[in-house]
Order: sequence, then structure tokens, then C-alpha cells
Amino acid sequence: MTHVNTFTLKNNLIHAENVPLTHIAETFGTPCYVYSQKALTQALECFSAGYQGMQHLVCFAVKSNPNLAILNLFARLGAGFDIVSGGELARVLAAGGDASKVVFSGVGKTADEMRAALEAGIFCFNVESASELVRLNDVAGFMGKVAPVSLRVNPNVDAKTHPYISTGLKSSKFGVAYEDALDIYLQAAQMPNIAVHGVDCHIGSQITELSPFLDAFDRILALVDALASNGIHIQHIDLGGGIGICYHNETPPDFASYAAAMREKLGNRKVKLVFEPGRALVGNAGVLLTQVEYIKPTETKNFAIVNAAMNDLMRPALYDAYHEIKAVKPRDATETNPEICYEIVGPVCESGDFLGHDRKLVLQEGDLLAIMSAGAYGMSMSSNYNTRPRAAEIMVNQDQCHVIRQRERIEDLFALEAILPNIT
Ligand code: LLP
Repeated sequence: MTHVNTFTLKNNLIHAENVPLTHIAETFGTPCYVYSQKALTQALECFSAGYQGMQHLVCFAVKSNPNLAILNLFARLGAGFDIVSGGELARVLAAGGDASKVVFSGVGKTADEMRAALEAGIFCFNVESASELVRLNDVAGFMGKVAPVSLRVNPNVDAKTHPYISTGLKSSKFGVAYEDALDIYLQAAQMPNIAVHGVDCHIGSQITELSPFLDAFDRILALVDALASNGIHIQHIDLGGGIGICYHNETPPDFASYAAAMREKLGNRKVKLVFEPGRALVGNAGVLLTQVEYIKPTETKNFAIVNAAMNDLMRPALYDAYHEIKAVKPRDATETNPEICYEIVGPVCESGDFLGHDRKLVLQEGDLLAIMSAGAYGMSMSSNYNTRPRAAEIMVNQDQCHVIRQRERIEDLFALEAILPNIT
């Protein structure tokens, strides 16, 4: 099993674990993100369980949900972290994460970010270009340190996912071309302040089939063998993240089958496996709770205008992504209030501001809705567009609720701005 469903209907009310979402809305207001600690814990434990008895490191992809409470929970459960900025490194350290379990990915690492990561003593830099390698060697040399490195290699496989989140093709800005990898490794091996530790790849996100992972792994193993015949013996293979989740009717591989397939491919090679899952650990562990402000029937469509918007959850507007939308307290259809198709939209001034199209629901103004599977790339991609404060985040643990991020205050949204002294 990949995911325990901790958002279930009990007494005709959706609960997060043992807490009715109505209680959360009354106590903390809406819109808010609600997470289940049990779902998070079980996802991480279940992911790791597949690698019992072998060297492995699960590095949670911070970008998918960087809340300190979530990072801290995963750190306490033994996870490492995949970061892509100095900001994410600072979060991991503030959350009590172990720097020696951190991998640093990303195509644009600055010298300052490299220094901070070297200072902290991270596990590995996932280097994405020849120029980055030169810069890292310089920065490390200046500090009198040696930087542990993997090259992020582009295995040129089609991840069969949305083009915006497919990263392993030749045309992508990520990683180095497969054909160039050996050469760059040979250069790296000559650099005094670089230590070659691993090979890395990440082919995309929301991947719902095993085959792209297997194809990528095959290519990586061929490279590992070629490196070995050139005297470069690597200690770990980082297979990135990318396992999809079920938003609607997808059937992604479960963690156990994914792990079994990866173990089988690895065979008896004595290398550590590193993974960078994001969405698969947090996606289905969170919902966005919102309230219907207005019902607005028009000639062609029925709009349900809710108090969450594209600034809170950008995925529908940006990728046309589907999130299930459920009534927190489902109503029976009546003659005066039948089940009809609603456009679920927010208050932001953009036609692209929608959370769901054509959703069959029985609704009244004031009803609460749960936008499902919003734990990954929800809050982390939110913005203040239209000067909307970011939503609160609440963690539920059995029958307890904890505010893990307060709702932003409007005055804070412009606190860093300044008025010109004069306008002449
Ligand atoms: N490692 C690297 C180097 C990545 O770039 C990513 C995600 C991950 C790991 C984690 O991938 P995951 O396991 O979460 O699929 N905003 C998009 C997803 C962008 C993914 C970016 N990279 C969305 O909302 O679907």
C-alpha cells in the first residue's frame, strides 16, 4: 500500500483523522491547508520499507512542501532532504534536519549557496552542468574543502507526464546530456576540490508507470559500469523523485512494486540508493479546505465562488491539473436543490482562476468543500496575488490540531514596501 486515506467520511462529515473538517473551519477559518500526520508518517515509512537491509537514503523533496513541521516530522523519522536553494537548506537546518543527509539539486546554484552547503556539510551536490562543476571546485578550494558530487545525468527517457514537469529529455534544461556524462566525470575526477561520489537522475514528476523509471535506471547502470572501467567507482546512485499519486483515476506504481523493481535492477552492486520523493509522500496527506461564498448561475454555467483561489492552489490554473472536490458535509439532492454541475472558481481576477470544472455537487452558499490531494505543490506554490494573505496550515494528529503556519496578516503583505519621499 502506498497511501492510507486519513480523510474519510464519518457521520456524514469528512474528518482529518478524528477531527471533523467543520471543526477546523470554525476554529481556524478558511481557506486553510489541513494535513494528516498519520498519512505523512505512513507514507515515509512505507516508502523506506522497500529498502530494508540495504544501504539507502530517502531525501524528501523540500519544494513539494517546505513547512517546518513537515520537515521536522520527516527528520525525526530519519529522512534526508533534497533541496534546490539556499533558502531550502536554511529551512532544513531550522527544522532540525541532518545536513549530512542533504542532496542539493538545481541548475542555478550560486556561489553563496554552494558556500552555505559546504559549510553545513551536505551529503552531495547534484551538479547539473560542466560550468557548475568548475565553480564548485573553485568555491570549495577557496574554503579548503572538498565537495562531494554526483552529476545529474539526463537519461533521455520520456516520463510520459505533463511537459512542464517532464525533466529527463534531451531538450530539457536539467542535467547533462547522457553522451557528455563520461567526459565531464573524467574532468571532475581531475579536480582537486571535487570528490566524485555518485550518479544522479530525475526524469520528471507525477509519473504513473514503472517503465520510464526502469529505462532511466538501465541507462544509469550502463554509465556506472562505464565509469568503473575508467577507474571511477561511485558510491551511490540517486534515482530522483517522480512517483505519481492518484488525483482522480491514475494508477501509479505502489511503493513496494517500485522498490522491488529498483532492487532487482540494482542486482548485487554494492552502492547506496538515494531517492528524492516529494509528491508521493505528501500529496495525498493534505487537503485545501474552503467555503462557498456565492452560488452564481449564469446562462451557460453555474459558478460556485469559493474563498480559495489560484493563489492558494495554482496547479489547476497552471497545469490544468485535476483535484477532486468533495463536500465536507454532503447534502441529499432535493427538488429545489438538485445535484448540478458547478464550475468551482476563486475570487481572483483571472478567467484562469478555477479549482475544478464541471463538478457534480449539491451545494448551498456557506458550504465547506475539501480540495483533495493538495499536500504537494499546494502551499509551496502559493502567492499573494490580488493581495491575498496565504492560507493557514493545520496539522492533525488523531484528535489534536496544531497550527503549523498562521494565516498571513494583510499588513505584513506590504510591510517591506516603501513610499517614495517625494514625487517631483
Ligand atoms: N528531485 C528533483 C531534482 C526535482 O526537480 C523534483 C521535482 C523532485 C525530486 C520531486 O519530484 P516529485 O517526487 O515530487 O515528483 N509543481 C509541479 C511539480 C514540479 C516538480 C519539480 N521537481 C506540480 O505541481 O505538479
